[in-house]
Amino acid sequence: MTSTSLRHRFPGVSDGWARFDAPAGTQMVDVSIEATSAWMQSTSLACSGGWFEASQATGDLVGRARDTVGRLFHADPAGVVFGPNMTTLTFAVSRAVSATLRPGDRVIGTRLDHEANVSPWRYACQAAGADHVLAPFDPTTGTLPPEHVIELIDERTRWVTLPGASNLLGTAPDLRPIIDAAHAVGARVYVDAVALAPHQRIDIAALGCDALVTSPYKWYGPHSGLVWIDPDLMEELPAFKVRPAPDHGPGRFETGMPNFEAIAGVEAAARFLLEEDMDRVAAYEMAVFEPLLSGLQSIRGVTVYGPRGLDGRTPTAAFRIDGVEPADVARAMAADRIAVWDGHNYAVEVVESLGLTDRGGVVRAGLARYLDPDDVQRLLRVVERLAAWS
Ligand SMILES: Cc1ncc(COP(=O)(O)O)c(C=O)c1O
Repeated sequence: MTSTSLRHRFPGVSDGWARFDAPAGTQMVDVSIEATSAWMQSTSLACSGGWFEASQATGDLVGRARDTVGRLFHADPAGVVFGPNMTTLTFAVSRAVSATLRPGDRVIGTRLDHEANVSPWRYACQAAGADHVLAPFDPTTGTLPPEHVIELIDERTRWVTLPGASNLLGTAPDLRPIIDAAHAVGARVYVDAVALAPHQRIDIAALGCDALVTSPYKWYGPHSGLVWIDPDLMEELPAFKVRPAPDHGPGRFETGMPNFEAIAGVEAAARFLLEEDMDRVAAYEMAVFEPLLSGLQSIRGVTVYGPRGLDGRTPTAAFRIDGVEPADVARAMAADRIAVWDGHNYAVEVVESLGLTDRGGVVRAGLARYLDPDDVQRLLRVVERLAAWS
């Protein structure tokens, strides 16, 4: 193992609970809590854009946060847009895209996606008379072979919307060949990196996507969202904004006043990840995850969904226990102070593809930087007990 758990940096796990609910939202890291609180206690609370000191400090905070987020994702900070959450931002971007679509155009998504990267695009297509097509993943391996998307891409395609990682199965598809195929026909690519950003280094410049969205509350910051949009594309897209709002730059998509308190916390959380180094975060998490995955796979009566090995995935496991409803598994875990989610977790298309829609979906257990090998053993003991009874 490359390092030890950082549990001591997360007040939210000081009560002894094993918080495997990280894919739904992580606990905030100490520096992010402190930065949020320090901002609220400061004399700088104001709207940005004015001549007085507090207003200038607020503007500086947002600029600093764009820079730090740009460094974290290796992207031009001028493309960083802050917002309330991924879903709201994706509705905003897809609404702008909708105004550029024509009847017969195509938007291609995937069935591996969280619903927040499906429904907004469906509405955008409906409004424009365009087609919304979803590429299937392979339900037996939980993987998304790039060809499944590439073979749907043609000259009618305007946008391809992809999952950085599945929030349910952990699958992290190989995006680069799909992005290249999309660009070859002049299409744009939108990546939902909400379930990827907490676990792996993201290099937007190398990936070459046109927009990428993430939620800082999944990577140790406060509840909020951010989307990076290629700055040239951002100028072209017809943003829905009030007339006095900025005509250029990220302000076009930041409707109304941003949540400056949260932005202070986002900046600190991004700095935390830069200091920790995403490759080290990934190495630690995968080392803790390996016994969880292999342990679940070895228990009789347990079915694990998604990629079998550690490659091409994030440390999120989805499973069922024969004869026990996922909700009952989650309830039994809660009685032992272990937090997991059950059901579809908004991965509606994934659960339907697995034929589990009417069967309670799956149990989902995901890692974060504050979980350690003892937490994994606690979870496995409950699964063994439930599997032995069933
Ligand atoms: C992969 C993925 N995409 C999108 C979302 C929606 O994010 P938000 O809550 O920021 O709207 C989630 C939330 O769980 C998610 O896991």
